Amino acid sequence: MAEENKQNGKKDSKKNSSYISGKESRRITKFNRRVTKKLEKERANAEKDPALYTTKMEDPDNVVEFDNVCTYFFSDVGVVKAVDGVNFQVPKHSTVGIVGESGCGKSVTSLSLMQLLQRPSGQTVGGEIRFNKGDGTAYNIVNTPNAVMEKIRGNDISMIFQEPMTALNPVFRIGEQINEVIELHNPDMAPEKVKERTLEMLELVGIANKEGVYNMYPHELSGGMRQRICIAIALACSPKLIIADEPTTALDVTIQAQILDLLQNLKDKLNSSIMLITHDLGVVAGMADYVVVMYAGRVIEKGTAQEIFHNPAHPYTIGLMRSKPVVGQKVDELYNIPGSVPNPVAMPDYCYFRDRCEMQCDRCKGKYPPEIRITDTHVVSCYRHYEEGEVLGYPKSVNVEEL
Ligand SMILES: Nc1ncnc2c1ncn2[C@@H]1O[C@H](COP(=O)(O)OP(=O)(O)OP(=O)(O)O)[C@@H](O)[C@H]1O
Ligand code: SF4
Ligand SMILES: [Mg+2]
Repeated sequence: MAEENKQNGKKDSKKNSSYISGKESRRITKFNRRVTKKLEKERANAEKDPALYTTKMEDPDNVVEFDNVCTYFFSDVGVVKAVDGVNFQVPKHSTVGIVGESGCGKSVTSLSLMQLLQRPSGQTVGGEIRFNKGDGTAYNIVNTPNAVMEKIRGNDISMIFQEPMTALNPVFRIGEQINEVIELHNPDMAPEKVKERTLEMLELVGIANKEGVYNMYPHELSGGMRQRICIAIALACSPKLIIADEPTTALDVTIQAQILDLLQNLKDKLNSSIMLITHDLGVVAGMADYVVVMYAGRVIEKGTAQEIFHNPAHPYTIGLMRSKPVVGQKVDELYNIPGSVPNPVAMPDYCYFRDRCEMQCDRCKGKYPPEIRITDTHVVSCYRHYEEGEVLGYPKSVNVEEL
């Protein structure tokens, strides 16, 4: 009897931990290899036929439309649904802030748009990412072949990363690094013109000693200056969309404000849009026109900055707002959202926030909530608003077994 209990105990602890047997591990590896090989082959086919990667924008006033995008990682422990049925748009000339806690899928969303996922394990397996070509038609980035993507990256969409020191090459001078980007995208430009453009970019990002900095190495510059250089590189080809993934987290507060101001000014000058990824609500409040709140790989609320900050509708967003300090308001302890995010390999089929939610209603016992439109611009995925709004639809997950 004691032996039996011991055995059962062992089985239970295996079940509760993330233990994977040798047999299961081999099954996962075989499955991953089969699926990723098939997806890579489909991608290679798109190179032959442009009809496979061109599509139409739903609204020509958007630069990018994410339509039920599903990006999964075929990992050794199973399929991680990092982004699962994400829907949102980036309108022309606007700044869209994407917020959410660490691991909710913000970076994977932007990497899917740039096709910079760690392949073959990372794959966009469902949905469309439409990028506006400017003539009414669009690329579906999910299927766009690499040769076309190389032209889009840097020319039309560019990215500013979190850590400027690692984004710059330590062994090349600043001037050479900006020249390289301009030359790559304008192969016919004369070398003097390239240098002229580089100096112009240095001036644009507020570098006073542009001739001096042109000949310096990255280690000779401060963190704020290095981030300015990264911005100059990202904007050298006047992209239609700038993705800034935590652009100021490595900088101190005063420099943060300068860099954000600079980004906003340049966006207006170049007529671009910004997708600003951050976990800092203060940054979003100061800069964004629209805000998208993500939780565990899904968009749970989106709307104008005004709506999200002054009239949050999802209990998670309400919790986020309560957990940030307010100047002039004295509290003993800031609010803390209880619990933690569910395991990404085994997501529940009900609301992902239910186990942490303090506002549940009867409907929450059912399946994952649909997107509900509560104003023209404000959409929330929460049953609390089921009666008052228009139900738009449910996020569609991809059944990986059918791939
Ligand atoms: N190469 C990878 N292989 C497996 N899983 C990955 C990989 N990259 C990301 N993930 C998973 O995808 C999920 C989303 O990650 P992502 O980097 O998008 O988070 P994030 O919202 O940007 O977080 P942070 O604020 O920390 O940057 C996480 O659960 C992460 O573990
Ligand atoms: S759907 Fe229900 S459980 Fe989920 S966030 Fe809304 S109230 Fe909470
Ligand atoms: Mg990230």
